[in-house]
Amino acid sequence: MSNPPLVLGIESSCDDTSVALFGQSGLIGQLVSSQTTIHEQYGGVVPELATREHLQNLAPLVAELMKRTGITRDQIELIAATRGPGLPNALRTGFYFGQGMAVQLGIPFLGVHHHEAHLFSPFLNECTNQWELTESCFPLIGLIVSGGHTMLVIVRGLGDYEVIGRTIDDAAGECFDKVAKLIGFPYPGGPHIDQLAKYGNPKAFKFPRPMLHDKNFDFSFSGLKTSVRYFLRDNPQVSESDKNRKDLCASIQAAIVEVLTAKTIKASLKFNCKTIAASGGVIANSGLRSSLEEHTKRHMIHFRPSPFKFCTDNAAMVASIASVKFGQLKNQSSQLDADILPSWPLGEILE
Ligand code: KG4
Ligand code: ZN
Repeated sequence: MSNPPLVLGIESSCDDTSVALFGQSGLIGQLVSSQTTIHEQYGGVVPELATREHLQNLAPLVAELMKRTGITRDQIELIAATRGPGLPNALRTGFYFGQGMAVQLGIPFLGVHHHEAHLFSPFLNECTNQWELTESCFPLIGLIVSGGHTMLVIVRGLGDYEVIGRTIDDAAGECFDKVAKLIGFPYPGGPHIDQLAKYGNPKAFKFPRPMLHDKNFDFSFSGLKTSVRYFLRDNPQVSESDKNRKDLCASIQAAIVEVLTAKTIKASLKFNCKTIAASGGVIANSGLRSSLEEHTKRHMIHFRPSPFKFCTDNAAMVASIASVKFGQLKNQSSQLDADILPSWPLGEILE
């Protein structure tokens, strides 16, 4: 197999079930079944419910995707599924489903690292559906900000990653979701804060910028969450007025955005990386996107955020990275006997 193969990608690491087809012409199609309404009432993802939903959704989603794209089972050349990190049983559903299908079709199977998939999602053009990564993009700084992870990575090439910073406690998305819960928004609260922050004054209330001036590239967001908790305890009237709620959301978002922007730009300048590729659910945040846009412009850094539809968990990023990597592998052996890796460091990806 010399050309990149036609891949069926599967993502089931958390609370989104997604399947996608990616081939030589780019992304052929993608379907996502989000479980937001199921977990909303519990204030966070319930792993057992996520697993049950994945099991129920996977086969019908694949059938629907084939119907919509006109691709038949015998055209698929590779199946790829998220191997880790993620919720163990949620990962198992998609991973074993993919392996079973690969055995049935007699084609190879590849397990994909969830963060590696996020990392390159900015290079999937949502209008043309084309993969746009070229050698000239390297070295680049990857910023991954999601519900479970916040990290800065130097990417020197496909498979060549050095994690230079990570959160020492809560992830940025987790912080958004926890403070949103304190204000009274349903899970996931990040998009609700974003929405209200657009109409608020980011300087109305002062919240800490954790580790902003530290020399390293690590992050910490649990102190910010605690300070919002005490603020709301001492100023309960704030969440009762519409204007105050908007100002509160804008002020919290400004604190998160300032830290993420400052550290990402600092990393890019220090390691002389001319491109910043930003991915993960929190990159959908309008304040963070415009702040990174503004600061990268000022420093003449090329900014590549994930297209909105590839920010949160999706299978297009799984299928596309699998297609590119598998096409380039010297030893295209199948991972039919591999197992999931719920805690899998990005630096430990085997070629
Ligand atoms: O990447 P993702 O789908 O899941 C993980 O791999 O964790 O990210 C989900 C996270 C949630 O915490 C959600 O609140 C956050 O992304 N998020 C946002 C926005 N959209 C999604 N946070 C802030 N502003 C947004 N617009
Ligand atoms: Zn993710």
